[in-house]
Amino acid sequence: MQIFLDTANVDEISRAAAMGLVDGVTTNPSLMAKETGDPREILASIAETVSGDVSAEVLSTDTAGMVAEGRELATIAPNIIIKCPLTPDGLRAVRELKEEGIRVNVTLCFSVPQALFAAKAGAYIVSPFVGRLDDISAPGMQLIADIREVYDNYGFATQILVASIRNPLHVVEAARLGADIATMPAKVLDLLIRHPLTDIGLERFLKDWEAARVT
Ligand code: G3P
Repeated sequence: MQIFLDTANVDEISRAAAMGLVDGVTTNPSLMAKETGDPREILASIAETVSGDVSAEVLSTDTAGMVAEGRELATIAPNIIIKCPLTPDGLRAVRELKEEGIRVNVTLCFSVPQALFAAKAGAYIVSPFVGRLDDISAPGMQLIADIREVYDNYGFATQILVASIRNPLHVVEAARLGADIATMPAKVLDLLIRHPLTDIGLERFLKDWEAARVT
């Protein structure tokens, strides 16, 4: 499973990338709005910092606008892929952009039929939002299991990117279910690496070593 960072903060991405932990990055308008500077330059820096896919989201809601924005964003770097919302206009944009060789991540997916239509439209990636489903007492991870089953039934190549991840268990479940990608905030990535028993164990090893040297 590929690990993506869900942020537009170049410093956060650089830190994780320096540890070799980041396969790609997802951004969205909410995340871009938290950063200062020219959005195009921010996306260019992110695309330079990681070698994998970097999702850049369109702001238009009509097909023509999404296609025009998608074409423009795709010129920023070869690893920029376009994020379109899972709406009828968005699905039309997926088809048009795909015909031009531009890869699309279809975002804001909340149901199996939505995921099925994203795949049929030719999405490169589909992004189901698990945390936002959990927020309304609907089991987010069940959606991942269901999409995996449906895609495998028909051999769809669309990658399942688990989005709206809020905690390490979401990532573990995503891997168990065979999701292709999990995107997460830097704080979740940090939690995944750390374990209190690792810290306690390391401290004990070093203490034992020092004690043996002193006696
Ligand atoms: O990748 C989509 C993600 O950013 C949404 O996360 O926590 O705002 O639901 P959240």
